[in-house]
Amino acid sequence: MARIPDAFIDELLARTDIVEVIGARVPLKRQGKEYAARCPFHDERSASFTVSPTKQFYHCFGCGAHGTALGFLMQYERLEFLDAVEELARRAGMEVPRDTAQRHANPETRDLYGAMEAAASFFRSQLLRSDKARAYVERRGIAPEIVERYAIGYAPDSYSALREALGSDPRRLHLLERGGLFSKNDKGHLYDKFRDRLMFPIHDRRGRVIAFGGRVIDPEDAPKYLNSPETPLFHKGRELYGLWQARQTNPTLARLIVVEGYMDVVALAQYGVTQAVATLGTATTADHAELLFRNAPDVYFCFDGDRAGRSAAWKALESVLPRMKDGRQAFFLFLPEGEDPDSLIRKEGVDGFEERLRTATPLSEFFYTSLTAAVNLATLDGKARLAERCKPYLAQIPDGAFADLMRQRLAELTGLAATPAAPPPPARPPTRRAFTPSQKPSLVRTAITHLVQHPGFARDLHPPYRFAQLRQPGIDLLAELVVLLRERPELSTGALLEHFADRPEQAVLQKLALLDLPGETRDLRAEFLDAIAQLDRLVIQQRLEELQQQQREGGLDEAGKQELRALLQARLQR
Ligand code: UTP
Ligand code: MN
Repeated sequence: MARIPDAFIDELLARTDIVEVIGARVPLKRQGKEYAARCPFHDERSASFTVSPTKQFYHCFGCGAHGTALGFLMQYERLEFLDAVEELARRAGMEVPRDTAQRHANPETRDLYGAMEAAASFFRSQLLRSDKARAYVERRGIAPEIVERYAIGYAPDSYSALREALGSDPRRLHLLERGGLFSKNDKGHLYDKFRDRLMFPIHDRRGRVIAFGGRVIDPEDAPKYLNSPETPLFHKGRELYGLWQARQTNPTLARLIVVEGYMDVVALAQYGVTQAVATLGTATTADHAELLFRNAPDVYFCFDGDRAGRSAAWKALESVLPRMKDGRQAFFLFLPEGEDPDSLIRKEGVDGFEERLRTATPLSEFFYTSLTAAVNLATLDGKARLAERCKPYLAQIPDGAFADLMRQRLAELTGLAATPAAPPPPARPPTRRAFTPSQKPSLVRTAITHLVQHPGFARDLHPPYRFAQLRQPGIDLLAELVVLLRERPELSTGALLEHFADRPEQAVLQKLALLDLPGETRDLRAEFLDAIAQLDRLVIQQRLEELQQQQREGGLDEAGKQELRALLQARLQR
């Protein structure tokens, strides 16, 4: 993980309001001192997700997701730590300390992006030089501005062109290898993986090149498309070709159209349908579905009309069902035999293609058509079987209007009463109570709880911290918190938790941060100071017991005896 000075993170979080950051992405409702919403990280009907403006953190009582504004961005936007820091810094008008950011960012990963970018530039320059490649681009009817926008290039017909151009430096050679650009023969010799292919760079969400897809130019070659292998930067089940360009071209994305191939994406873009993305030679994964809906409320899936296409469409349906929250829609567009979006839009133009999108099959229809295909709805048995088959699917749909409509439709088809929705949840999720300790909490736990909830209480403590000598669970953590907060008493609860981001203690601190402590701040402070005072006194007790033990064992020297007498004396006087 990238290391940025803690003080910078503290300042960043101090200048950020978590309610604004989350509120811009999730509709929040005021609820007493906090804000509540339906959790964006799991499907639910009740609002178990809370954001605390005073503590500056969020927590979901349903799935346990929690963190600061920084953690939220990482989880919600799927950003790396450093990227989330940059995003918040931009909002707050702060500059991320450049050299720390760069010095500490994983240098290997950073350089890997650089190597991929260099390879992309190399391929682009080769396209300009190759008559054969340019002729192919022309034959496929790809316009120059599309070549530009999608940074399409050409890998020359050679085993060593890339290697020779960029791999002379051993470090760079190693990076290109990690980036998946070479193959290795039996003797361990590296050679260019992509040869005589039209190269489509795959960009990540920030526009960085992370992989390539290469199409043969010579129809005799195989495979027709060759993709980069999985690398530290590229996991094909999580990326969508063309998403970067779609986001760049459209200020807001009202829809995304999922197609199968690179050529389909670029051809649609060329004709003005700039919201197409492609999965990379894989079925639609749950990660894809998540990514799609995170970027647009309406998603259209284009598949071949044949058997294979329908089965791929069903897989896509399965991956989107659990994500069909209210406001989201999915459609299925089945293409005529032998056509793909590339060929269709060239034939029918943008109007023809848009018309097909307008009349695409809604998810509900595709769902029920597929499931009723093999049952006889004229019989009671068939109706029962349909209901039985639908059950596991319907259960996955998040509660809401869409789920209700789907159940209603089933009721219409079967004539059976709609399966009632899950019973309404209790007003307050029961898990919340589980965090409230049933037996009396230990003094250490009490003190830590107060500090986590009111970091400013540390101002009232002064060294030496006698309690630190206690041998009790949690004492070290308490002492660490006191030392940290004496230095930075202005930290919010969230910012404090961020200090423990990589540590196992974070979980318990998070739990304590959530406890509901009744009372005025003044009383709470008094309670905290009293706990510390009691702990300080326990140190005397602990020392007394220690000395008495030694005495019983006959191992107490003169100094020890004196100390024991003094301690006993002091206790009498108290
Ligand atoms: P198609 O074979 O249908 O190709 O593969 P296409 O997109 O129509 O390409 P053109 O028009 O012949 O150039 C569809 C998609 O399946 C993946 C690629 O993503 C391709 O775009 N694919 C196909 C592979 O990954 N490897 C292959 O060998 C073939
Ligand atoms: Mn095609």
